Amino acid sequence: MTGRLAGKVALISGGASGLGEGQAILYAREGASVVIGDLQDALGAKVVDQIISEGGKAKFTRLDVTSLTSWQAAVAFTVSSFGKLTTLVNNAGIFHPGGVIAETEQGWAKMISVNQTGVFLGMKAAAPELLKTGNAAIVNISSLYGLIGSPDAISYHASKAAVRVMGKGTALEFARQGIRVNTIFPGQIRTPILGDITPEQDAAIKASIPMGVVGDPMDIAHGSLYLASDEARYVTGAELWIDGGWYAGN
Ligand SMILES: NC(=O)c1ccc[n+]([C@@H]2O[C@H](COP(=O)([O-])OP(=O)(O)OC[C@H]3O[C@@H](n4cnc5c(N)ncnc54)[C@H](O)[C@@H]3O)[C@@H](O)[C@H]2O)c1
Repeated sequence: MTGRLAGKVALISGGASGLGEGQAILYAREGASVVIGDLQDALGAKVVDQIISEGGKAKFTRLDVTSLTSWQAAVAFTVSSFGKLTTLVNNAGIFHPGGVIAETEQGWAKMISVNQTGVFLGMKAAAPELLKTGNAAIVNISSLYGLIGSPDAISYHASKAAVRVMGKGTALEFARQGIRVNTIFPGQIRTPILGDITPEQDAAIKASIPMGVVGDPMDIAHGSLYLASDEARYVTGAELWIDGGWYAGN
């Protein structure tokens, strides 16, 4: 531990699994107090136990990112637990495939609600507390699919592309008020969101990545750590793709 986030208090949505879990663990190792907000209570509690067993500080709160009142409760829980909120990570997200023909209105609405509206509501609920600290950071997790197209994921593309521009706009809104807002674009990272894939699909994914390997949650966590830390004090509205070179070929 080097304490790169010493004194920070972070609320991480979707912190019970995958990329959120990785960020929660690394943030805590670097000295942040972490609140994990997620729908998955048991998995969230497991991540909290791991952090505490490593000597870190963490708590879990049930959060549904599609609800402003749920977000407001999570922010209040964070402040009552650790005294302030300095860092928001909008990480929770869902994925299902489907192009224009296959996607349903319900599927579209669900995706937009979690991946896009969830990010708006998180920033809206957290902003009053972040503004109080005068030195705060928001890290939004988009996706390489927010930058490039594919034939089979229309609502996911729409939600993640929106997060891209929302991050830029919010960076400008708060540029002189002490909140930095940056966006990470993960490529293919091994987490439960990828679902069950066959060895053939796995081989095809790897073949599409210039570096030839699928990423690990810690690859994203290290980028997020930088953006959340004071090392990035002059960085706002930025876009960091962590993707094994995938975007370079597009
Ligand atoms: N894994 C990848 O390859 C990849 C690539 C690009 C972007 N992403 C993005 O990274 C983020 C994290 O995904 P992951 O790969 O860790 O997936 P994951 O499924 O392991 O984790 C997502 C977490 O979000 C939580 N969540 C879902 N809906 C929620 C809601 N309404 N309220 C609160 N929590 C909710 C889930 O319970 C889960 O714990 C997502 O935004 C995803 O779109 C992932």
